[in-house]
Amino acid sequence: MRLSLRFILPLAVVLVLIAYAVVPLVDNLTERWFIRDLDMRSALIASSMREPLIDKLQTNNTAKLVSYFNRIIQDERLFAIGFCDITNSTLICTKTFPKELGCESIRTLEGKHTRVLQSSRRGLHVTIEPIESEGTVIGKLVFVHDMGFIQRRSTETRKFVFYFFVALGCIISMLTVAIAHMSRRGWIEGTRQLLRGEGYKRSDGKRIPTTPELQPIARDLRTLIRELEGEYRPRDESQVTWSPEALRTILKRELRGEEILVVSNREPYIHVKRENRIEVQRPASGLVTSLEPIMRACSGTWIAHGAGSADRETVDGRDRVAVPPDNPSYNIRRLWLSADEEKGYYYGFANEGLWPLCHIAHVRPTFRASDWEQYVAVNGKFAQAVVDESGTDNPIVLVQDYHLALLPRMIRERLPNATIITFWHIPWPNPESFAICPWHAQLLEGLLGSSILGFHTQFHCNNFLDTVDRILEARVDRETFTVSHGGQPTAVHRYPISIDWPPSPEFTVKPVETCRMEIRERLGVAADHTLGIGVDRLDYTKGILERFMAVERLLELQPEWIGRFSFIQIAAPSRSSIGQYQEFQTQVRATAASINERFGSGGYLPIILKVEHHEHWDVYEYYRGVDLCFVSSLHDGMNLVAKEFLAARDDGRGVLILSQFTGASRELPEALIVNPYDIDQCAASLHLALTMSTAEQRDRMRIMRGLISEFNVYRWAGRMLLDAAVMRRRGRVLARTMAD
Ligand code: G6P
Repeated sequence: MRLSLRFILPLAVVLVLIAYAVVPLVDNLTERWFIRDLDMRSALIASSMREPLIDKLQTNNTAKLVSYFNRIIQDERLFAIGFCDITNSTLICTKTFPKELGCESIRTLEGKHTRVLQSSRRGLHVTIEPIESEGTVIGKLVFVHDMGFIQRRSTETRKFVFYFFVALGCIISMLTVAIAHMSRRGWIEGTRQLLRGEGYKRSDGKRIPTTPELQPIARDLRTLIRELEGEYRPRDESQVTWSPEALRTILKRELRGEEILVVSNREPYIHVKRENRIEVQRPASGLVTSLEPIMRACSGTWIAHGAGSADRETVDGRDRVAVPPDNPSYNIRRLWLSADEEKGYYYGFANEGLWPLCHIAHVRPTFRASDWEQYVAVNGKFAQAVVDESGTDNPIVLVQDYHLALLPRMIRERLPNATIITFWHIPWPNPESFAICPWHAQLLEGLLGSSILGFHTQFHCNNFLDTVDRILEARVDRETFTVSHGGQPTAVHRYPISIDWPPSPEFTVKPVETCRMEIRERLGVAADHTLGIGVDRLDYTKGILERFMAVERLLELQPEWIGRFSFIQIAAPSRSSIGQYQEFQTQVRATAASINERFGSGGYLPIILKVEHHEHWDVYEYYRGVDLCFVSSLHDGMNLVAKEFLAARDDGRGVLILSQFTGASRELPEALIVNPYDIDQCAASLHLALTMSTAEQRDRMRIMRGLISEFNVYRWAGRMLLDAAVMRRRGRVLARTMAD
């Protein structure tokens, strides 16, 4: 439409201008034609009047002559006739003869035909015809014609010419636009067919193969498009402001709006029974924290284990429930596991085997054949659910974490064209450590069913490639970070996970000052009491004991903080059926109690331990109301608590103390980086944090918040999806080439 207007408007202007230039020309021309006619007419009339005029002049009867003239001017165009004798002294004429035309003035007009204006209203044309008798000129006949009819016709002609040009313009524009559209479509279709190597499709449906001469052009065009794509991607990534909208655009534009399936063990919303009510809980899981906003943005289906006590009551006939409960935008498809399955697959193989295997926390992994069997069976169940939920044979499946290491291969076997993006949320150990697992080869083969395998850090990617190199017969390309096993390529890349940015307004709506005040009131401490926070699952990898020991050491080394500083530890109970976790909980409680006994007095507690589930808004209130956050993981893939604390501090205050063994420490060097095993160093960092100037806090915060705002979770997902889009495009090209 815009194209048509762009074309038609200038054309219309040009045609109007032409019409304006042509109309006076046409006017002039028609007037000249008419005058010539009038002159010829006058000559004719003069010749036919000659005889009767001479007769009447000889009888000298002027009255008869005038009446003769009057008869002739009955013609509507002949306005008046006059006769001047040879001496120009006598004028015999009709009454209508213009007064200003005497014989004298006629003499001056002789030889020319001219227009004489009798009045301002109309033009008159004068023609002078000499009258001869026996070879001698005896006088002149003067014909005065009314030119009004010429003007009338000229006006009509002008109108006609103008309308003609307008109509012509319209017809030309319409024809040209129609032809342009048709040929553009045809051209585009033709180019597409050429690029696809399909040849040209004629209107009768027959295909004419691409001629050999055109093939180099098609090849060059394809190369050009590939180059442009290559150039476009990095630019795109660095220029995009990563947001839910940006992610939706990628899905629509790059992945043709295809539906996404997420598969994880943990579900994002758990329905639990509380007395007679059903409550919805958000689990404490970094995986859920990061993937949930992605699913809100992209819709699709999230397949997960339905572990809540009221989960079965809240699904529909196809085991689905729409979430988030207040504003549903995607579905959870719940998968049911028997107690034995859960025990073997989740508690046993995943959390007593793989979890300690992958984390250097000096907890011995336990591998049992019975757990492995359940792990294989449950991965198979998830694979079937993926097939059931997938509407196509080539879905995009995002497989999450160590619970589902066999799933990528199982999906690949059932849906060979699927794009499988697997993300390993925990560290990947070195080859020696990994080989401890009796089923190490099967796990690797399972993961290598993925199209893309992601880790948080380059170090974990390197470890994975080393492990594959050591254990499997596979081609490992360290330049492109690709592994080919059994003809299936897997790209191994680093995608550092992150959080939703900006954080949801409901978490930051309460002003920082109010958070500070309310927390201290609740705890019964003074308004200037300093507070630190730790937020974790009650897990031995999180360094909670080391954290408490650091607080104890601080109070030993800097006793001025006794009574003035408390550390709040929020610890969500986790995997409580596992012996190691139960023991750990006992140790944590005991350590907190012993420190409190040693340094606490009169209601003052150095460690405030809260072993219970907290909702997100509660946690954000703590983040906003405290002076420091201490993340002391002994080993952690990323650690999103560190990033959440930074996101919560829109006041630019607060200090982050961060373990060097977290993935987050690679991105956040402005935190106070510590070795959690070095208790003195941690105590010194606590003191440094508590005494840090406001200006320094702001400087560090500004840099770290800036980084998270840019490298948020939408970028994490967007980068993986863009890589998947490129793979799918290449796959299509390859499939066509093979078909040729
Ligand atoms: C880690 C894992 C997640 C897991 C989370 C909570 O972050 O990487 O996969 O969901 O811990 O553990 P849970 O066993 O309660 O799901």
